[in-house]
Amino acid sequence: MWPYPRILAHRGGGTLAPENTIAGLRRGMDAGFRAIEFDVMLARDGVPVVLHDPELGRTVAGTGSVADVDALDLAARDAGSWFGPQYEGEPVPLFVEFAQYCKAHGVWMNIEIKPVPGHDDETGTVVARLTAALFADEIAAGRVERVPLLSSFSESALAAARNAAPQVPRAWLTESLPPDWEARARVLDAVAIHTDHTRLTAAAAAQVKAAGFGLFCYTVNAPARARELFGWGVDGLCTDRIDLISPAFA
Ligand code: G3P
Ligand code: MG
Repeated sequence: MWPYPRILAHRGGGTLAPENTIAGLRRGMDAGFRAIEFDVMLARDGVPVVLHDPELGRTVAGTGSVADVDALDLAARDAGSWFGPQYEGEPVPLFVEFAQYCKAHGVWMNIEIKPVPGHDDETGTVVARLTAALFADEIAAGRVERVPLLSSFSESALAAARNAAPQVPRAWLTESLPPDWEARARVLDAVAIHTDHTRLTAAAAAQVKAAGFGLFCYTVNAPARARELFGWGVDGLCTDRIDLISPAFA
C-alpha cells in the first residue's frame, strides 16, 4: 500500500536550502534523505520545470507568469540568491534533468504536478509521459517502489496523467478530506491521499486506511507531531525541517 520511504524532504532540502533546486536536493542528500517532494509546471514552450510559484518574483527574479517564459530562459535564471548569496547562480532545474539526477542518485520522487492555472491537462499529460519514459524499465519489471508517485491538487491534471500514462501511480492532494473524498480518489484511480496534517483527524486517517489508500501528510516539522501521525496510521510525510526529522525517524 505504501512501498515508498516514509520521510521525504519537502522541495528537496526543506527550508535549509533554496527550494526546488539541485543545491536543495544535495542539502537533503547530505542530511541522509533519499526521498523528496518537488513541484513541476510547464514553461511557455511546454517544457516542464521545477518551480513552486506560477508567478515569477519570489524565488526567481522577474514578473509575470512562468507560462510566458521559455524553459531554457528560466533555466538560465537565478533561483538561489533569494535564499542566500552562497547560492547565487543556482538555476531553475529542467524537470527531466532534475529527475535524471534523482534517479542516478537513488532518490525516490514524489512529483507534485503544480500547473500554472489554466494549464492543468497539458501539465498532467506531459509530466506523466516523461516520468513513464524515464522509468520504463522499472515499470516493466514491476519495481513499483522505485517508480515516482505523481500528486496534484488539480484533479483535472491527475485525470490527464491517468489517461496519458496510467502505469505511473497517482495521489490526490487535498487540503482537507471532503465528504466525497473516496469517490473522487477512485475516479482518479489514486493509490494514496496526500493531505495537510493540520486538518487531519485520527478518525479520518483511519477511514482512509480502511478504504485501502496510502496516506501521506504535508508539511510536518515537529517530531512529536510526526510520531502522533504515524500512530494514526499515516504512511509517510514530508518535512521542511530535515534537521529535526531525519529519514531514520520512521
Ligand atoms: O506536496 C505537498 C506539498 O508540497 C503541497 O503544498 O504548496 O508546499 O507545494 P506546497
Ligand atoms: Mg509541493
